[in-house]
Amino acid sequence: MAKASAQFTCTSCGAVHRKWTGRCDACGAWNSIVEEAPLSAGPKGAVSRGRSVALSTLQSDEPPPPRTLSGMAELDRVLGGGLVRASAILVGGDPGIGKSTLLLQAVAAFARGGLRCIYVSGEEASAQVRMRAQRLGLGDAPVSLAAETNLRDILTTLDEERPDLVVIDSIQTMWLDSVESAPGSVAQLRASAHELVTFAKRRGVSVVLVGHVTKDGQIAGPRVVEHMVDCVLYFEGERGHQFRILRAVKNRFGPADEIGVFEMTGAGLSEVSNPSALFLSERGQPAPGSVVFAGIEGTRPMLTEIQALVAPSPLSMPRRTVVGLDSGRLSTILAVLEARCGIPFTGLDVFLNVAGGMRVSEPAADLAVAAALLSAREDVALPADTVVFGEISLSGALRPVSQSENRLKEARKLGFTCAMLPAGGKLDREAGVGLREMTDLTGFVGEVFGAG
Ligand code: TYD
Ligand code: MG
Repeated sequence: MAKASAQFTCTSCGAVHRKWTGRCDACGAWNSIVEEAPLSAGPKGAVSRGRSVALSTLQSDEPPPPRTLSGMAELDRVLGGGLVRASAILVGGDPGIGKSTLLLQAVAAFARGGLRCIYVSGEEASAQVRMRAQRLGLGDAPVSLAAETNLRDILTTLDEERPDLVVIDSIQTMWLDSVESAPGSVAQLRASAHELVTFAKRRGVSVVLVGHVTKDGQIAGPRVVEHMVDCVLYFEGERGHQFRILRAVKNRFGPADEIGVFEMTGAGLSEVSNPSALFLSERGQPAPGSVVFAGIEGTRPMLTEIQALVAPSPLSMPRRTVVGLDSGRLSTILAVLEARCGIPFTGLDVFLNVAGGMRVSEPAADLAVAAALLSAREDVALPADTVVFGEISLSGALRPVSQSENRLKEARKLGFTCAMLPAGGKLDREAGVGLREMTDLTGFVGEVFGAG
């Protein structure tokens, strides 16, 4: 039999390659591939037949899994309506974004609600965690603390203590003595997460794993364990902004794409229950290049301001700078504007930004982006009381988007009286918002900017 050769694993996404390459084909990360010992092929010798597994049906009289609410409404929403027993949750995010703060507050809230909670820190000493808890006013919450990185010891402790909820901060610092590689390697990360997830299912304990998103290949990132857990949440935000967004990208017990909005203050994270009002609160007089987009995040409508700046460029390759939106999407919209409407952006620098550090990934933002670009280019401000949404197809046609009514309702709630949107969507005409419906981008340009 051929000798099992070493395998090469991407530390960013966990993809396995036969050869080392500088760039991972699966996720596109550079310099993220490391050599790993191959998985064991199992015991040698006679192949045993295995035993048959008991099968069951889909029918069940069991009630749905019980959920526990933390009382932090934004967190409960992202979890899909509370914490599910025996579930494994991964919370990823950049270092320093506030994961430890969020989980300390969450664990204190659950503990005050009667759950037995253990917080295991592999990064900070107990005294440091205690100090932070005191500063956040959580000193009285009945949370048990441990500072430990040896997973074998942690699992033994958990087996004795039988808690309801365990937070492991962070999974990259944990190590198992049975795995022969350094803490933070793909092999350690996989094995540790596997042990913890198995423990969660077997003992009915909810486990939260914290994972740092890493930029280089030294430490494996949380994407490596995404497939093992029930729920994947990412905590995001721009460094310069105080807003933080907790986003569910996978949830076996609830809707994905749901978001919770928090604000980082001197006394920890506080919840933002009306994000639209907050994201629009900094908006001043209507200015060219500023457009309000009526978006949907998960099940919740959310208004955000999209800002564009267009200026003559001294460069032979003009700049395209995007914050909070997909840069590929910007290129597409610029191409459609040029090819279908005859409005070129050659020789112009384009800057595009979503105010407040929000990230927008819906195609429904296309029309708002186009409107912001045109408004900046023509130096014409859109009316202050108008929201915009709609998808742009490559032909230049405008496509209706889902949940138009929810978007309009939210717009009306925040005092907007007019909406520009694609024609043909199913709508309640009595929404209380004036509708300017358009079928294609050329028509939009003509109607709004009198050009095209
Ligand atoms: P932390 O939760 O330690 O981040 P992570 O665990 O994701 O690495 O948060 C670190 C940042 O949060 C730090 O830069 C300071 C800031 N912060 C506040 O602004 N207010 C607070 O009350 C706390 C606890 C932290
Ligand atoms: Mg931390």
